[in-house]
Amino acid sequence: MKTLYFITSNKGKLQEATKKLRPLGYAVVQKDLGYPELQTDSLEEVATWGITYIQDRFDEAFMLEDAGLFIDALEGFPGVYSKYVFFTIGLPGILRLLQEADNRKAVFRSVYAYYEPGKKPIIVTGECNGTISQKQQGKNGFGYDPIFIPNGEEKTFGEMTIDKKNKFSHRGRALEKLIAELNTLR
Ligand code: IMP
Repeated sequence: MKTLYFITSNKGKLQEATKKLRPLGYAVVQKDLGYPELQTDSLEEVATWGITYIQDRFDEAFMLEDAGLFIDALEGFPGVYSKYVFFTIGLPGILRLLQEADNRKAVFRSVYAYYEPGKKPIIVTGECNGTISQKQQGKNGFGYDPIFIPNGEEKTFGEMTIDKKNKFSHRGRALEKLIAELNTLR
C-alpha cells in the first residue's frame, strides 16, 4: 500500500477518497492542516493556491481538493462559495431560492491537486450533472447530498451508499483521473 496524505478537515471527503483509493493500492491518511480559501470564482485557482500554501508547511507528497455545487437557475451559485452557503442558508435556503424555478439543473465539480516535493503539481477535475430535488431526501453523505439527484438516477446522493456515489460522482471521477496520472509518473 502506498500512503497518500489528504489535506482536509471534511470527514465525508475523507471517507469517499479512502473507499475509492484503497482497492487501487493507496492508503489515504488525513492531515487536518487548514489553508486560506482564495476569493476567486475558479475551483482550480483555490486548489492551486492551497498547494502553494501547504508545500511550505508539509514535507511529504499530498493531495487536496476543492469542490462545489453550481446551480443553473442561480447562475452557478453557490459554486466556490458552497461551503459558506451550506453553513449559512443551508439546504432549506437553496430549496427556497429554487421554489419558482422550472430549470433545476446543477453540476457538482471537484478539483484535486496533488503535489510531490520537487515535481510539478498535478491538477485533475471531475464533474457530475444532475438536478436539485424538490425536498431533502436521505441521510447519507454530507453537504448538498440530500438535494442532488445525479442524471440517470432517481435517488439523491443522500440516499446512496458511498460506493454507489463514488462510481459516478464528481469526486470519484476526479480521483480516477488522479490515479491514472500517478500511475504514469511511476
Ligand atoms: P470545499 O471543497 O471544502 O470548499 O467545500 C465545498 C462544499 O461543497 C462542502 O462543504 C460541501 O458543502 C459541498 N460539497 C462538496 N462536495 C460535495 C459532495 O460530494 N456532496 C455534497 N456536498 C458537497
